[in-house]
Amino acid sequence: MIEVKGLSRKFGPVWALRDLSFAVAEGEVVGFLGPNGAGKTTTMRILTGSLAPTAGQARVAGFDILDRPLEVRRRIGFMPEHAALHPDQSVRGYLDFVAEVKGVPPNQRPQRLGWVLERTGLTGVAGKLVGNLSHGFRKRACLAQALVGDPDVLILDEPTSGLDPHQIVEIRELIRSFRGKRTVLFSSHILSEVGAVCQRVLILNGGRLVGQNGSEGVDAADLARIPAGKPRVVLSWDGNREAVEAALRGVTGVDDILLTETGAEVLIAGNPVEIRPKLVESVVNAGGLLQNIQDKGPSLEDLFLRLTGADIPHSGEPGKGPAGVEP
Ligand SMILES: Nc1ncnc2c1ncn2[C@@H]1O[C@H](COP(=O)(O)OP(=O)(O)OP(=O)(O)O)[C@@H](O)[C@H]1O
Ligand SMILES: [Mg+2]
Repeated sequence: MIEVKGLSRKFGPVWALRDLSFAVAEGEVVGFLGPNGAGKTTTMRILTGSLAPTAGQARVAGFDILDRPLEVRRRIGFMPEHAALHPDQSVRGYLDFVAEVKGVPPNQRPQRLGWVLERTGLTGVAGKLVGNLSHGFRKRACLAQALVGDPDVLILDEPTSGLDPHQIVEIRELIRSFRGKRTVLFSSHILSEVGAVCQRVLILNGGRLVGQNGSEGVDAADLARIPAGKPRVVLSWDGNREAVEAALRGVTGVDDILLTETGAEVLIAGNPVEIRPKLVESVVNAGGLLQNIQDKGPSLEDLFLRLTGADIPHSGEPGKGPAGVEP
C-alpha cells in the first residue's frame, strides 16, 4: 500500500533522509520510531505531498506521489505534527468542511461525522469553537479530520504526544483497531507505545533505517525481547550531593551513576524492585532529603545502540537521551 524506494531529502547542507526504502502492506499498522531529527516528519510530509523529495520514489495505493498527487491525497488521511486548524469554526463545522473537501456525499456526512466524533471522543465538544479547545482536544480534532474521508491509508505524526494518559490509551486503542482494516504509518518516540499498537516497527536514525532486518523493520513482538540495556532509577534529593552520590555508589547492584541537576540517574545491574529500598536508605543515611524516586525502563538510546552498534547524538545533558526522547 505504501512503497518507498531510495527516498532522500536535503535541507541546505543537511540530509534529512538518505536513501530510505520500505514498504507497508495493506491493513498493516506500522510504527515509525526514532529520536528527534531522525526524519520521521520529513518522510510523512513527502508521502502526503506537502514536501518534494530530493531523490527517490514513493507510491501510495499504487499511485506515484509525484505523478499522481491528487489520487494519493484522496486515499490518505494525514494527521500532521502541528495542525493548522481554523479557530473560528465549531468542531462539527470544521469536520463537515473537511468531509466536503474529501468528497463525502452530503447524505453520508451526518453518519460519518457521528462516527468520527464518537471514535475520537469529541461528541461532547462538537459545538465548541476549535480555537477554544484544549491542546489534547485539538489533537483529537486533528485525528478526526484525518479519519473523516474514510481513508485507506492513515499517516499519523505523533498522534499521542501531549495527551493525558487517559487520552493516550483511547487513541492507542483506536489505532490498534485499524489493524487489518486500514494501512497505518504512525510515528512516536515511545518504544512501549509502538510495541503496544503496531505489528512492525521501522526504526529511523539520522535519515536512515536501522535494525537487524534493514528495510523490513523489526517485528513489534521482538521489540520486547531485544536486550535494551539496564533499567534505571531516577532519584532527586536535597542535601549534600557528594555524600549521597558516594553512598549510592556503595549500594550493591548499582552499576553506574549519572548526576543530573536535582539528583542522579542510577543504572541498575539487578532487579530495581529489590535495589530501590537500599537506594532510599543510602540517601537518608548520607543526610539527603529524598524528593522523588522513579523507575525507568532501559532507554531508547540503549536500544539504538544495540540495534546499530553505533552511537546516536546526545543532547549533552547528563543522564538524558536526545532531547524529548521518552523511555
Ligand atoms: N523545513 C526544514 N528546513 C530545514 N531543515 C529541516 C526542515 N524540516 C526538517 N529539517 C531537518 O531535517 C531533519 C529531520 O527532521 P524531521 O522533522 O523529519 O525529524 P523527526 O524525526 O520528525 O523529529 P521529531 O522527533 O523531533 O519530530 C532534521 O535535521 C531537521 O532539522
Ligand atoms: Mg517530527
